[in-house]
Amino acid sequence: MTARKLPAIKAVDQDVTDRYAIYQGDACELIRAVPGDSVHFGVHSPPFEGLYKFSGSDRDLSNSEGDAFWRHYQFLISEILRITMPGRIHAVHVMQLPTSKRRDGFIGMRDFRGEVIRAWQDAGWHFHSEVCIWKDAVVAQARSKSHRLNHKQLVKDSTISGQALADYIVAFRKPGENPEPVAGALRRYVGEGDGPDFAKFTTDGDSRNWFSIEVWQRYASPVWMDIRQSRTLQYLTARDGHDEAHISPLQLDVIERCIDLWSNPGDIVFTPFLGIGSEVWAACQAGRRGFGFELKDKYFRQAKTNMRRDPAEATSDALAALAAPERDAEASEDLEAVS
Ligand SMILES: C[S@@+](CC[C@H](N)C(=O)[O-])C[C@H]1O[C@@H](n2cnc3c(N)ncnc32)[C@H](O)[C@@H]1O
Repeated sequence: MTARKLPAIKAVDQDVTDRYAIYQGDACELIRAVPGDSVHFGVHSPPFEGLYKFSGSDRDLSNSEGDAFWRHYQFLISEILRITMPGRIHAVHVMQLPTSKRRDGFIGMRDFRGEVIRAWQDAGWHFHSEVCIWKDAVVAQARSKSHRLNHKQLVKDSTISGQALADYIVAFRKPGENPEPVAGALRRYVGEGDGPDFAKFTTDGDSRNWFSIEVWQRYASPVWMDIRQSRTLQYLTARDGHDEAHISPLQLDVIERCIDLWSNPGDIVFTPFLGIGSEVWAACQAGRRGFGFELKDKYFRQAKTNMRRDPAEATSDALAALAAPERDAEASEDLEAVS
């Protein structure tokens, strides 16, 4: 554990302990108070440009579109570069986005993942790694009712048909020498199934530690087929009938793999978009210190509650997650497909 402290920041509301620090407010403002080179690792899921609206606030990134979105997000990317320790990683969860007739003039796809990569590179980050997260097309079709995924459409005219949208993690490294190597074997497997036999674990520093080797063989795969889609922090109570869209928490398996891969125990793990607290909660459960910002009062309150919950109580199960609106990029495309 390093001697670095979680930063002291004045915000609308905050919950600060020695294990985590979460603040309510605009990430673009709050991040200015964070000292340079002080964060060891970061992971976040940005609002996807033009797709969802989480609140009515102008400060909400999901309310900016086009150039305004990219100016807003680019500012944060540069600030995240400033606060991250040299040689360390920040991981971003992205999806490709559907286009619509109304917005883009055609039905198809937009390379949002590529746009995000370019924005991070433009700010001075090195593009470091990426992994595709498998999605079940049948589940996606059942949720979104997308014509692109419908067999009826394939039979009628398959030029409209296309694959389901996957999730991706794209990771970036801040240039410079990492002063604190992220060293040691992988000590757990997170994902579908039992994973490798822990009896094969030898020592933390053993490069022939077969438990760690077998976990790494799975994590090093360019496609993660074994993410439990419904293992998310529970969020049903964070829903707000007046919002245009609801939050979709990032899968805990994805966050935990990133944390295990790219941070040491005791490290400070940052997210500019806390939501209901998934990244900070997972960081604390993994023995790191979590640190994040959230604009929306309701999500922030839910994050506060989640941080104080028992792990068993705080994760939701398949049925609860399925009953709630999902991160349904395909659904909005569908509206256009029928028009
Ligand atoms: C995709 S969600 C993040 C969900 C989070 N990964 C989780 O699992 O709970 C994006 C979040 O960014 C928040 N947000 C949007 N603009 C913001 C801003 N300027 N400052 C802080 N949070 C913001 C939204 O309210 C929303 O909760």
